[in-house]
Amino acid sequence: MKKAIITGHSKGLGAGMVSCLIDAGFEVLGIARSALSEDLAGLTEVALDLGDTAAVSAFAASSELSVFLAGATEAILINNAGIVEPIAPVGRQDAGKIAQSVAVNVTAALILSDTFVAETEGADRRVVHISSGAGRNAYTGWSVYCATKAAMDMHVRAMVEDAIDGLKAESIAPGVIDTGMQATIRATPEEDFSILGQFKAMKDEGGLAKAEDTAAKICSHILSDDFGAESITDVRNF
Ligand SMILES: NC(=O)c1ccc[n+]([C@@H]2O[C@H](COP(=O)([O-])OP(=O)(O)OC[C@H]3O[C@@H](n4cnc5c(N)ncnc54)[C@H](OP(=O)(O)O)[C@@H]3O)[C@@H](O)[C@H]2O)c1
Repeated sequence: MKKAIITGHSKGLGAGMVSCLIDAGFEVLGIARSALSEDLAGLTEVALDLGDTAAVSAFAASSELSVFLAGATEAILINNAGIVEPIAPVGRQDAGKIAQSVAVNVTAALILSDTFVAETEGADRRVVHISSGAGRNAYTGWSVYCATKAAMDMHVRAMVEDAIDGLKAESIAPGVIDTGMQATIRATPEEDFSILGQFKAMKDEGGLAKAEDTAAKICSHILSDDFGAESITDVRNF
């Protein structure tokens, strides 16, 4: 049986990956605060705020994940949910927003990865972190986001060192995609984000990839024999 868990499946890149995994014969468990806009056979949805670390821990410890993963011979976890806020220079970022960013972008993904590996012994199992170029290059206004994505890259590198039986892992930068996250970036006041103009120009000049196209590329890479050959990858090289 083929089973996949994807966080942030309700919109953007995650929504695109759901259909691709279902088409490839996977039963999919989607985790986000809201539901996908359409009902899909093969998709089970869990409403969970990944910024609430106590709730994520309780979910990971509950039987829900182990029941879903039971009997899987091929299992995939895609840690895709992410938030770009706070966008502001250090000194103007807000403690609550910083904590929320680390909780969603890092803590939840690390907890789910740990439980996923514990529950999939004997399976061909693959852990995917959706990272960002911002984890590999520094951008003004994004110090929190950059730090969280760099953490995800390093988490994959260190997991690979654990050499767990049957486990492959990869941290993938998806490129610049036309999703709600880019709309959030473009809505930031320029005083907090001095490179705002570059992001507006990218949108105006048609430089953003369609979420469905990027999702299809990532999905076919995850399912390929090449997956995990390198720990830190970029969709623009697929
Ligand atoms: N768009 C880009 O240009 C770009 C570039 C580089 C990397 N990325 C990365 O790609 C991934 C997907 O981003 P996207 O562009 O598709 O963003 P998006 O359209 O804003 O979607 C984000 C997804 O994450 C979920 N999410 C956010 N906060 C959550 C929370 N507290 N609890 C549970 N789920 C939560 C959202 O679901 P709910 O709102 O329903 O909870 C949604 O499904 C992210 O990791 C992002 O950092 C995006």
